[in-house]
Amino acid sequence: MSKTILLTGGAGFIGSHTYVELMAAGYEVVIIDDFSNAHRDVPDRLEVITGGKVTCYEGDVLDGSLLDRIFAEHDIAAAVHFAARKAVGESTEIPLEYMQANIAGLYSLLAAMKRAGVFTLVFSSSCTVYGDPDSLPVTEEAPRSFSHPYGFTKLTCEQSLEQIALHDPRWAFGILRYFNPAGAHATGLIGEDPNDIPNNLMPYISKVATGELERLGVFGNDYPTPDGTGVRDYIHVTDLAQGHVLSLKALLDSGDSHTVNLGTGRGYSVLDMLQAYERACGFDLPHEILPRRPGDIAEVYGDPSKAQDVLGFRAQLGLDDMCASSWNWISRRKNT
Ligand code: UFG
Repeated sequence: MSKTILLTGGAGFIGSHTYVELMAAGYEVVIIDDFSNAHRDVPDRLEVITGGKVTCYEGDVLDGSLLDRIFAEHDIAAAVHFAARKAVGESTEIPLEYMQANIAGLYSLLAAMKRAGVFTLVFSSSCTVYGDPDSLPVTEEAPRSFSHPYGFTKLTCEQSLEQIALHDPRWAFGILRYFNPAGAHATGLIGEDPNDIPNNLMPYISKVATGELERLGVFGNDYPTPDGTGVRDYIHVTDLAQGHVLSLKALLDSGDSHTVNLGTGRGYSVLDMLQAYERACGFDLPHEILPRRPGDIAEVYGDPSKAQDVLGFRAQLGLDDMCASSWNWISRRKNT
């Protein structure tokens, strides 16, 4: 049976780490990426890490004829769909573009898969589908909601996949609800390095550490959390990538769909993260307390037990690994 996997968005942050883990697990991997939020040198860096030639098509998942060509040129067994837009704030400014990229992009991929007779997909979802949960840790059975176009797109994609699987038993979907990805590959060759000023905490802190940004703005210190700052479930991107390998394996072995949280089950505050990063880089990082960011919730962390039961997944790497690997990556990148 074919062991070739199509990774959409495979040059991006989570996609590139998943490429490495899939190759290590013995899969062949084909990437499609439009490089709208990925650096051009990622395929070369993946070649250094894996020691093999990377097959990468440049293009958009909305391009059905390109997808048809990829499926014709490779014997693909399944796809992992990362390609999407992911900035909450931006989604409120250009909602239609988010719906086109995230919802129409998924439909375009599914239609091409169906034309090619490929019915197995791992989908990148988010804990954003839980909105502001009533109880913690949040389980997969918690009610879903949205409060911004980005969340709407993730929820709509999940519901679309559920309807398709319900009425067409050929399909098997792994819906992975990510908590907050952090860290970088142990080699320091790939990691997160947004082109613009980062929206997310970890890349922001890393750019304060390199001196590219002056200080971290902490969005609120009056939340009902132990130190007053927002609490999230940060998961090392290598753990997250391994979750995709396990999801694919389960889908290809059993043909049964699953929806699972990928988190650690532990919450850390903004100040916890800042202090952990200071330990990693070895110097103090300037910060100031700013007002709360509109739309932020106080606290969210996931119950990871279903992922363990269904996939055998358990996050291995902790906060210090996340910060040390991030610092290793970003400080090397700055010097290359
Ligand atoms: N934060 C700061 N300063 C910053 C950036 C973030 O204090 O410069 C704080 C936030 O207020 C929050 C925490 O750091 O308390 C984490 O913020 P992120 O932006 O890194 O992550 P979020 O939890 O807000 O967002 C993540 C994903 C989104 C997803 C959302 C839903 O990035 O894709 O979870 O839960 F929609």
